[in-house]
Amino acid sequence: MGTYDEAYRRSIERPEEFWGEAARAIDWDVPPATIYGEGRWFPDGRLNTCHNALDRHVARGRGGQAALIHDSPVTGTVRTYTYAELLDEVARTAGMLRGLGVAAGDTVVIYMPMVPEAVVAMLACARLGAVHSVVFGGFAARELALRIDHARPKVVLSASCGIEPARVVAYKPLLDDALEQAAHRPDRCVILQRPQCAAELRAGRDLDWAAAVREAEPAACVSVAATDPLYILYTSGTTGTPKGVLRDNGGHAVALHWSMSHVYGAAPGEVYWAASDVGWVVGHSYIVYAPLLAGCTTVLYEGKPVGTPDPGAFWRVVATHGVRTLFTAPTAIRAIKKEDPAGDHMRKWDLSGLRHLFLAGERLDPDTYHWASDLLGVPVIDHWWQTETGWPIAANCVGIEPLPIKPGSPTRPVPGWDAHVLDGEGRDCPPGVEGAVTVRLPLPPGALPTLYRDEARFARSYLDRYPGHYLTGDGGHLDEDGYLYVMGRIDDVINVAGHRLSTGSMEEVIASHPDVAECAVIGVADALKGQLPMGFVVLKAGAERDPEEVERELAALVRERVGPVAAFRRAVVVSRLPKTRSGKILRATMRDIADGRAYHAPSTIEDPAALPEIERAVKGT
Ligand code: COA
Ligand code: AMP
Repeated sequence: MGTYDEAYRRSIERPEEFWGEAARAIDWDVPPATIYGEGRWFPDGRLNTCHNALDRHVARGRGGQAALIHDSPVTGTVRTYTYAELLDEVARTAGMLRGLGVAAGDTVVIYMPMVPEAVVAMLACARLGAVHSVVFGGFAARELALRIDHARPKVVLSASCGIEPARVVAYKPLLDDALEQAAHRPDRCVILQRPQCAAELRAGRDLDWAAAVREAEPAACVSVAATDPLYILYTSGTTGTPKGVLRDNGGHAVALHWSMSHVYGAAPGEVYWAASDVGWVVGHSYIVYAPLLAGCTTVLYEGKPVGTPDPGAFWRVVATHGVRTLFTAPTAIRAIKKEDPAGDHMRKWDLSGLRHLFLAGERLDPDTYHWASDLLGVPVIDHWWQTETGWPIAANCVGIEPLPIKPGSPTRPVPGWDAHVLDGEGRDCPPGVEGAVTVRLPLPPGALPTLYRDEARFARSYLDRYPGHYLTGDGGHLDEDGYLYVMGRIDDVINVAGHRLSTGSMEEVIASHPDVAECAVIGVADALKGQLPMGFVVLKAGAERDPEEVERELAALVRERVGPVAAFRRAVVVSRLPKTRSGKILRATMRDIADGRAYHAPSTIEDPAALPEIERAVKGT
């Protein structure tokens, strides 16, 4: 396998040779003659991602192996699909979509809970060359409507309900509401009826999933260009309008397949579990595509780390299904640690098969690292990436050469990612000095080629700040050994329980409250969820309101318009917001205050007394 240093150097110095070799592990209808050209990977190759995830494994004898295990403590069921069964289900669902007029290049919105049909739907789109856009179930109708209007789906696939431990969340009324709010009209909605809640179907528009699939003929794979889109995944930017991250077929298949063995050290036939949600990039990459591309068994877990029924839930799944690699977010481990500090629940299960725990989604604090690593006795691997990159930028690549772990660091850049830490002038920062984390272009295969229908925003958000580099939006530093430390966002994106959210979208909602003159939302540190949003509002002159009542109203408004996942509960009324004399809100200074960092009132500040008021409010949390 060679050393990490060798692999890394080769990937940066001879990327075409490096990725050309990796591409041989994928089945191509037309193998790429050009590895990189005109800014795209494998521009003349043709393939089908679903074929690579399913058909080829069945053709090569894996038909009887488990492909997908749906473990659902919230419904009390476990169901396993072999590769042959999953292929059959996907082919018939693709046939159903084709029958509804969905063809290569059409978009399909998928708004579904953690059920096998969500995975089937994604793969069925890939089979036809259609472009899926999965929307996370914890978002409100308005957020779904925004995405529907931008993606303009021909068909929406949804379910009657999702199941949260404390309640059944009826999805269909949310979908109906979103379609009322959206200007775009899909031709059809196909609804999976779950036994926990029946959805009312609208004649002429809505179809029953089971009946529609039953009547469909299986569809074959459609060959697409490597550069054709596989999916759009909307993610939070700094404004209220989400960014449609685009993923191609060829680069994605090559990079994800490569990452399974080299980053995660996972072999075909092994059980790999990413405890995330299909609505996030971790779910796209490491519940659905990568494990199936690699011939592993993937686990789809419909439950929580705690409360379904206890903090031993993850360990039960690991032990019962023989999970070799577990991937989750630090917040999930913190939730388990809080309820089971001594690891009593953990010890009830035989975890001898577990080889690695990978964590991502937010900074892994050293306390959580030590707790998990001491109790589990396996390497706990922090790795850093984003929706945009699709797979890890920095990790300890255990499949190449495990490097010594330094708690607090996701280790070194993964082969393919030429990561830098730059100062304000675009110079590399010396070790230990904080700057903006960037990646020198070209980005490796699998990273976003652009934003869907918004090339200008792509350039503005990622490329313009440091020409020749991709701006990650994270700040951090390198150490003397080249280890990267990612300290947090340098923009207005926050991370709540591993969920990426935009403070801008919450501000838009808060500003619509009739008594609010202006507002700012920032993320404040939270021991469990990493960050929680907190609003600072200035009321309109003459609005004599009880601040607690305002807080309750704003919390309800954000929940209704952004969704429960925002976990917005704290809003304080302040007399003024800290601003420059030209009227710009000093968000960076507010973030410093929230994170407990030393802050300086900039010379341009309009009224320095505004800052202590913010500090008092933050400390009051
Ligand atoms: N559909 C509908 N509602 C959802 C939802 C979904 N798919 N997912 C979450 N929600 C709701 C929850 O019910 C909760 O509502 P409530 O305010 O009525 O309680 C709210 O959104 C917040 O949910 P969540 O962030 O899950 O918080 P929690 O307090 O229920 O659980 C953790 C806390 C830490 C256990 C949980 O956040 C967790 O498991 N995090 C791991 C995150 C993760 O895997 N991220 C992916 C990146 S790797
Ligand atoms: P998302 O696009 O939802 O995957 O969120 C990406 C963001 O989460 C990154 O830009 C980081 O701010 C944060 N993040 C993800 N993984 C890590 C990590 N291992 N360490 C620090 N921050 C992380």
